[in-house]
Amino acid sequence: MNNSQKIIILDFGSQTTQLIARRVRELRTFCEILPYNKFPEDTDGVIGVILSGSPLSVYDPSAFKIDLSAIRGRFPVLGICYGAQYISHTLGGKVEAAGTREYGRANLCDLEKSPLLEGIGEGSQVWMSHGDTITAIPAGFRRIASTQKVRFAAFESESEPVWGVQFHPEVAHSTDGKKLLENFVVGICGSRQEWSPASFVSSTVAELKAELGNDRVILGLSGGVDSSVAAVLLSRAIGDNLTCIFVNHGLLRKNEYESVIANYSGLGVNIIGVDASETFLNALEGVTDPEQKRKIIGRLFVETFNAEASKIKDARWLAQGTIYPDRIESLNITGKTIKSHHNVGGLPKEMNLKLCEPLKWLFKDEVREVGLELGIPRELVFRHPFPGPGLAIRILGAVDRESVRIAQEADDIFIGALRRHGLYDKIWQAGVILLPNKTVGVMGDERTYEQAVVLRAVTSSDAMTADWADLPHSFLAEVSNDIIRNVKGVNRVCYDISSKPPATIEWE
Ligand code: XMP
Repeated sequence: MNNSQKIIILDFGSQTTQLIARRVRELRTFCEILPYNKFPEDTDGVIGVILSGSPLSVYDPSAFKIDLSAIRGRFPVLGICYGAQYISHTLGGKVEAAGTREYGRANLCDLEKSPLLEGIGEGSQVWMSHGDTITAIPAGFRRIASTQKVRFAAFESESEPVWGVQFHPEVAHSTDGKKLLENFVVGICGSRQEWSPASFVSSTVAELKAELGNDRVILGLSGGVDSSVAAVLLSRAIGDNLTCIFVNHGLLRKNEYESVIANYSGLGVNIIGVDASETFLNALEGVTDPEQKRKIIGRLFVETFNAEASKIKDARWLAQGTIYPDRIESLNITGKTIKSHHNVGGLPKEMNLKLCEPLKWLFKDEVREVGLELGIPRELVFRHPFPGPGLAIRILGAVDRESVRIAQEADDIFIGALRRHGLYDKIWQAGVILLPNKTVGVMGDERTYEQAVVLRAVTSSDAMTADWADLPHSFLAEVSNDIIRNVKGVNRVCYDISSKPPATIEWE
């Protein structure tokens, strides 16, 4: 994303740095999080800089330090928490350990007139989370707000556009936090608020055209929202020079393979379907260990994808649906939450492909907005997450064609009912688990001895933690009846009421 205005957020390792970026994006302003010491040389389009919080103290020998003179005087600067302390500390103010770590709600008082506090009144609630406190601000600065416990809750320079706030305007508990950030981003930095899904689509399509020219690109479609949006965006830019490969491992939802192929062909995307169900199901025969199943599926997936990709001889690029949070986590500067991101795996070296990641600047909800902007149907854009190994990890124990049939049919009834009752969009993820043992039942006058399924539905915001969804009893009763009546081989339906932690979303 170039040629637009942007805010740079220098990350000193705070847990809430991503939230700052979310808020700035909500102000329809592009922003980029960079490690604290990687302020760019090319500052084209930069309109302001935010310094994040940090788990460290400015006095810590290993504290993250930067040369503020590279920024001050060139761009407006807002320091948040550690950022404010760092400004104060390096410009001649004083930061000391607070008696106790201050955490939680506080209220602003003794407000002075300042462009940063425009429209924010006395008593406004703010959220504090800090161990150190600023006890003196540098010469040439003035206090603009306090709280009961913190004298220098906010301060500004009298001669240059530099502000510091001890509290966290980016968190929802700071009631006027968004207003404060708006004052900085729009009022002070002069954002024209032009960042929108439509502007993203038009500028990204133009950039992709310029970068890819007449090159051929391969993309592995998973059926999930990220790879789908990446595919449609690329297809807009380069048409049939994009080839999407969609592998059916035989463990997808009922009719999913056919509907993905139909949907994407309908959207004008050049898609090749590879039905490798037989190969996968044969390889899984008799395998009961969950990790073993995952390994087999992962290996075969890479082999199948590579075999198909290798047929596209003149391909120059591999496209992926990597999104911004994947990259921020892999770049995390404190090194605590490094996560290697999921990709299509080792493509043959001789193919020598370059990586193309058109969604690398977007947050998940922005990916969805861009998807809608591209005309992708709502049900694809808001589709629940589905695990790569598919039903193999929802069929406990060995997987065979019969268990896949049962799992697909029961899942189809459950998901269909969630949609019909308007519940689908209220939950994060849902599915059916097929238990390996049989239970006794009675149907008509007959004894039955068939399998049990478990309905699983959770609410979550990121799958790291999850609550079981409190679905209406009448709804559960209807689904249970439908499954037992219609799915041959099932005589019992249970509902999973475990949260994560200590359970996980999937059973295997
Ligand atoms: P758990 O079961 O760990 O799941 O609470 C968290 C999220 O990850 C998905 N999941 C997987 N996704 N390959 C994937 O691509 C896997 O092996 C896998 N296992 C779990 C799960 O569906 C949920 O969204």
